[in-house]
Amino acid sequence: MPFPAVRPRRLRSTPAMRRLTAQTTVTPAQLVLPLFVREGATDPVPITSMPGQVQHSRDSLRRVAAQAAEAGLGGVMLFGVPAERDATGSAACEPDGVLNRAIADVVAEVGDAVVVQADLCLDEFTDHGHCGVLDAQGRVDNDATLEHYRRMALAQAEAGAHLLGLSGMMDGQVAAVRSALDDAGRTDVALLGYAAKYASAFYGPFREAVESTLVGDRRSYQLDPTNRREGLREALLDVEEGADVVMVKPAMSYLDVLADVAAASPVPVWAYQVSGEYAMVEAAAAQGWIDRRRAVTESVVGIRRAGADAVLTYWALELAAWLREDA
Ligand code: PBG
Repeated sequence: MPFPAVRPRRLRSTPAMRRLTAQTTVTPAQLVLPLFVREGATDPVPITSMPGQVQHSRDSLRRVAAQAAEAGLGGVMLFGVPAERDATGSAACEPDGVLNRAIADVVAEVGDAVVVQADLCLDEFTDHGHCGVLDAQGRVDNDATLEHYRRMALAQAEAGAHLLGLSGMMDGQVAAVRSALDDAGRTDVALLGYAAKYASAFYGPFREAVESTLVGDRRSYQLDPTNRREGLREALLDVEEGADVVMVKPAMSYLDVLADVAAASPVPVWAYQVSGEYAMVEAAAAQGWIDRRRAVTESVVGIRRAGADAVLTYWALELAAWLREDA
């Protein structure tokens, strides 16, 4: 065949042609908005390293949750910033702990119009900042931590959470939490396994957002960034343990892992566009070095194209507004 008889450009000729032949879509229902709530805050507190994001007060949290429902978002993912921390993160399990109260507040505000999700991990609640409790040698004790996760899950279910995000990367955490919920008759609460969560520099701004006290790193429990096969292994393990959804995190530097998991997983696969991904785009856009709206949109489209069924992104509300404009 004489070239260029094959002319792929025909399908790029007009906006209508491009719209009709688009192979990836993003809708508000596929977006989950992560939100921070700070114990004792009377007003929202800006997060310097995440321009545009705040630590919410109880009131502002309710308002933004209502906006999320109004915008048709798929869900909100709640993180608590407690006033007091201790060695075992005990506030995580108290019904009036900051996160459990926030769950109840948001459920009271939006009901089941959006999926109300809670971070199930100890790192915001421990004084040492690790995602689990420590043994006598100061190492993160996997199986002792599972007992805390089981109690935390029951407290979050009691507060009304629809879906629990297991982000601690302890072995067996999905099975442990599933059995705790089932034994308590809470077969209705869904579990998101942060299956392939890598030890990433891109969580940097999040550590400011939750006022993390961590010294050192999380490399003894989060995945090594060099390991592709292990991401898939972790995802399949979470599915076996009963995860309803599995996640890959961060997103942008791990799209290969996301594509692998998406190809193999029998359950929905989500990706978390983390704080550092947000901060990089915001910083470059603030300098005028990239077009903010186009860069944000393209980054989320890329994550969807790689195979994510839904995306956790700090831009969820703004992106939903743009999608409405463009529709
Ligand atoms: C742990 C947790 C972290 C994030 C979500 N859950 C931080 C960590 O593992 O250090 C990071 C999210 C982000 O960077 O946006 N509970």
